[in-house]
Amino acid sequence: MLWLSFLKEQGGPEELPAKMALDWWSPMDNSWKIFEEYHIDENLGFALPNPLEELPHPYDAWIAIAKNLPELIKNGQLRAEVEKLATLSIDGLQGHKMQRLAHLVLGYITMAYVWGQGDEDIRKVLPRNIAIPYCKLSGKLGLPPILVYADCVLANWKKKDPSGPMTYKNMDILFSFPGGDCGKGFFLVSLLVEIAAASAIKVIPTLFNAIQCEDLDALQKALLDITSSLHKALEVFHQIHEYVDPKLFFNVLRIYLSGWKGNPLLSEGLLYEGVWDTPKKFAGGSAAQSSIFQCFDVLLGIQHTVGGVPSGSAAGFLQEMRTYMPPAHRNFLHSLESGPSVREFVLSKGDALLQETYNECVQAMVSLRNYHLQIVTKYIVIPASQQAKKKQASEEPSEEENRGTGGTNVIDFLKTVRGTTVRSLLKEG
Ligand code: HEM
Repeated sequence: MLWLSFLKEQGGPEELPAKMALDWWSPMDNSWKIFEEYHIDENLGFALPNPLEELPHPYDAWIAIAKNLPELIKNGQLRAEVEKLATLSIDGLQGHKMQRLAHLVLGYITMAYVWGQGDEDIRKVLPRNIAIPYCKLSGKLGLPPILVYADCVLANWKKKDPSGPMTYKNMDILFSFPGGDCGKGFFLVSLLVEIAAASAIKVIPTLFNAIQCEDLDALQKALLDITSSLHKALEVFHQIHEYVDPKLFFNVLRIYLSGWKGNPLLSEGLLYEGVWDTPKKFAGGSAAQSSIFQCFDVLLGIQHTVGGVPSGSAAGFLQEMRTYMPPAHRNFLHSLESGPSVREFVLSKGDALLQETYNECVQAMVSLRNYHLQIVTKYIVIPASQQAKKKQASEEPSEEENRGTGGTNVIDFLKTVRGTTVRSLLKEG
């Protein structure tokens, strides 16, 4: 990826050494210690535990804007406020959590600056006072300089009552876009899906151990545990209907999550003033940047690649989305790829019950993707066609309207990914 070379220029994080990518599940290792290295929490999975909410002076000036984003946008003051900001060095941003909060805040400010009031008045240049610290910080964190899922979902939450449960009612997001509670619904439900599936990540070391020891009973149990976590994740997914309004999602939130790659509105990309001489293209924020589905794809041998090479544009897009994940999570997926193949092992044993249990696990991924397809139809495809009818411009929604925030042609892409998942089910006999 082009921007990964930028990270190297900025002295960004290194990939983990090869040793780390091997055998971390071996019984000798304390697997949770290793999971810490991959920034995976025992209870929250890939979500950032207890994200910070405040930045010290002088970075509090960024927070002040991000906290008032919908208001400043509505009053038409946002861009002027952003242009007034001092160009800050990032040296005072100490520690991972502070840096993640700053990346989240600068991401919100950047999206708001570019898309303005969500109409045709967009900006193609990000001023240097934001662009320089944002790109430096992005280099340091190994993330691109655009709002990513790791910002707006994984690091954008708090509990209302700190001693209460991780439930929608007891949670809130730290920063909002216009569109009322639609953003809160989309970000928090995505986070809760992540957390529900996190209990399945815990099982991975047990599962690999079972394969190494050829313990079929333990493997059977591990697969059942993973299936049950994926079923729970699907149940949580249902909450999207309660908390996300399709019209607000399509007409408002989707605009602020849009990127500048494959987007005709910014066909050249965005110019990060003072950083690069030419505009750069980055995909918008999307749950396709979540590591959780890709994690179970890799684990179960659901291969969107052929011989390690992405097989077609859907697989290419999923691979590309990995470069929008925190490097520790990207490395985790990579390390799983070097682990033992669950699928090959199950096949080699010829045990009907084990095959059935493996298939239930893959089927749980199919069900998640089926459900997701229904959601995308409700939240993107139907509103897009209604809009097209209103405009009476054409019978069919334009390609642009049918695109997801990540810039894909949504339904074709999602059906391809689901198809690969279905084909991973083992045939009987
Ligand atoms: C209103 C709710 C949602 C909408 C409208 C939506 C829309 C989309 C779209 C358009 C894509 C295609 C990629 C792109 O262009 O961005 C996508 C991909 C994806 N989304 Fe969602 N999404 C929603 C909720 C979620 C949630 C809650 C999750 C789970 C945390 C999720 C997980 C994924 C994944 C993993 C992909 C990659 C494709 C795959 O692996 O199957 N989405 N989504």
